[in-house]
Amino acid sequence: MDNPYVLNHKTPTRKDYIDTSDFDQSEILDMVKVSTVVRDYIKSGGTLDTLYHKNLAMIFEQKSTRTRVSFEVGMEQLGGHALNLAPGSIQLGAHETIGDTAQVLSRMCDMIMARVDRHESIFELAARSSVPVINGMSDYNHPTQELGDIITIFDHLPKDKPWNKVKVVFAGDRTQVCASLMMITTKMGMNFIQYGPPAKWLSDDFLKIGRANNQMYGGSVHVTDNPAYLEGADFIYTDVWYGLYDKETPKEVYMREFYPKYQVNDEMLAMTGNPNVKFMHCLPAIRNEEVTDSVLDGPHSVAWDEAENRLTAQRGLLLYFSGKAQEALDTIKRQKEEK
Ligand code: CP
Repeated sequence: MDNPYVLNHKTPTRKDYIDTSDFDQSEILDMVKVSTVVRDYIKSGGTLDTLYHKNLAMIFEQKSTRTRVSFEVGMEQLGGHALNLAPGSIQLGAHETIGDTAQVLSRMCDMIMARVDRHESIFELAARSSVPVINGMSDYNHPTQELGDIITIFDHLPKDKPWNKVKVVFAGDRTQVCASLMMITTKMGMNFIQYGPPAKWLSDDFLKIGRANNQMYGGSVHVTDNPAYLEGADFIYTDVWYGLYDKETPKEVYMREFYPKYQVNDEMLAMTGNPNVKFMHCLPAIRNEEVTDSVLDGPHSVAWDEAENRLTAQRGLLLYFSGKAQEALDTIKRQKEEK
């Protein structure tokens, strides 16, 4: 039986958390393990100061609620501190380059988390930084959301179904959250389907990553506009139509493409034929566009658990990439034994 206090990898194989494709399944499962053991410990009243005196610099080139709050609260709960470097509040974007910013922050802080407009900026930040860099979302992917989402899927697995048989359907646009969900579910050997209009399917480059995961771990990946693929879904996930990075497309254009066929509503949930199907959304949602109130607030929704699991995941990532995940697990084990 798997020991909850022992990791497969005592230290991270990479300095930075940029893309889950950089890690194998056993490494992702280590991140899930430290995240969930620490969550359960903190929820039962336990305290940790594993990141005492450590500082996290948080660079935001865009707005954020969940990512900002979860990293800030996560650092505080682990004994450290987070600095919110909001758009316009530092020299970055005025006349200081991202590379120079990385070098300066590396001299003062122990970790950097950044939400960036362009994925290239994360690579530049990581290359010029001597401390770990965590990707808090780019125009390519959203790996911290991925970890929170796979934890949520594990928390709500169907009874009597092994996790490699689970079917996850993403309904809607090929946002970076859609791509990320595909990458993490296929890494776990699950079956992933994007159900959306053909012009908005994930690109072949992304599908190649999913198929390589299928070769390694099992499962499958499909893109389709055929509603028959909804049958038997265990999870239906959606995100806003036209992601944050599209500021140009008028609403009537995307509504024509997606509405009503791809809206997650009670009829779509019924089409799964699964009375226990779960609904997920990375949030923020545009209510009654991609999802109805009745679904988001209804009994199938695990979207609020999913939001809370952003905090679960961030604590795990902060410990993992500071090289202190095993130390935190050892502390928890010792404190439980002393009780
Ligand atoms: N899901 C997500 O990343 O939310 P925020 O944009 O509020 O951080």
